[in-house]
Amino acid sequence: MPRTKISIVGAGNVGSSLAQFLALRELGDIYLFDIVEGVPEGKALDIYEGNPHWGTDSKVVGFSTQNEENYKHMAGSDVIIVTAGLARKPGMSRDDLLSKNVEVISGVARNIKKYAPEAKIVVVTNPADTMAYALYKITGFKPERIMGLGGSLDSSRFRTFLSMELGVSVEDINAFVIGGHGDDMVPFIRYSSAGGIPITKLLPKEKIEEIVKRTRTGGGEIVNYLKTGSAYYAPGISITAMVESIVRDKKRMIPSAAFLTGSHAKHYGAEGIFIGLPVKIGSNGIEQVYDMDFSEEELALWKKTVASVQENCRKVDEFLSK
Ligand code: NAI
Ligand code: 2OP
Repeated sequence: MPRTKISIVGAGNVGSSLAQFLALRELGDIYLFDIVEGVPEGKALDIYEGNPHWGTDSKVVGFSTQNEENYKHMAGSDVIIVTAGLARKPGMSRDDLLSKNVEVISGVARNIKKYAPEAKIVVVTNPADTMAYALYKITGFKPERIMGLGGSLDSSRFRTFLSMELGVSVEDINAFVIGGHGDDMVPFIRYSSAGGIPITKLLPKEKIEEIVKRTRTGGGEIVNYLKTGSAYYAPGISITAMVESIVRDKKRMIPSAAFLTGSHAKHYGAEGIFIGLPVKIGSNGIEQVYDMDFSEEELALWKKTVASVQENCRKVDEFLSK
């Protein structure tokens, strides 16, 4: 059987943490790419050299795309994760990154189209929903093969905060977040539970509201601590879960930015954008989108997050039409 090949574009904080997590779980051979010379080669070798202790045989190699030809090493990738681009600094929103990162994504997308047209792609670069849209527009790939990181990380934060407050194992917390991966994301209180008990029965309303707010601003909380960049450990493992579901065809239900079309577009009141939705991830990429019913309050939040993703997609269209 051929070995699974996983490429990561961007060997910064997220890309290199991800490479390590993927290697630890032996999900495939890892190919790390970055525009800076020496960084992908050095980080890949450093991770590779730890394999004897971890007991894993994932090959880990790195290539600088300073020489654009090196993208040829991406050929035959089963999954590609795009983390290349700028990260937030204090005071910046994810949307502030749009104009710079859309340029980066354009170059990366052209090379993915050239060398790995069969790959499934996970877009991480922020604003992730919008960058998934940009990558879709540039490659023209089937949208089911493209997904953006958002809900996997945001739900992980939401579950962690609930577990901290309740003093119970995070394994027993079921909770998820949909909508754009921005501060107006929608953490779903109605379907959140601990050991099957709705959290509304376990925590006062004000406490839940506090946790929802902390989840929404969870990315900013880390930026404010780090000052020089944004989160990467929780993002790295959140991407790993998505990649694992693809390469092992686990059919996990991990909320992710997915393309809205057909009856789902009608249901969610928006068409032709990528936005965080409840989905099933398997070897074919996004294998199913689930339609959720909204309460009046949830619908208002949903409309707000849709409007901000739509506005960003309009900016991408403007950029691509130049
Ligand atoms: P970082 O600054 O540590 O790494 C970014 C890397 O991209 C750098 O090594 C840089 O040299 C490389 N790069 C820049 N332009 C490139 C190009 N044209 N080709 C190849 N490589 C290029 O940033 P970090 O922390 O790794 O974050 C990466 C991105 O992921 C940021 O946009 C960040 O906002 C986003 N992010 C998104 C998350 C999500 O939930 N969607 C979670 C965490 C990060
Ligand atoms: C986060 O939520 C940076 O978007 C990233 O931490």
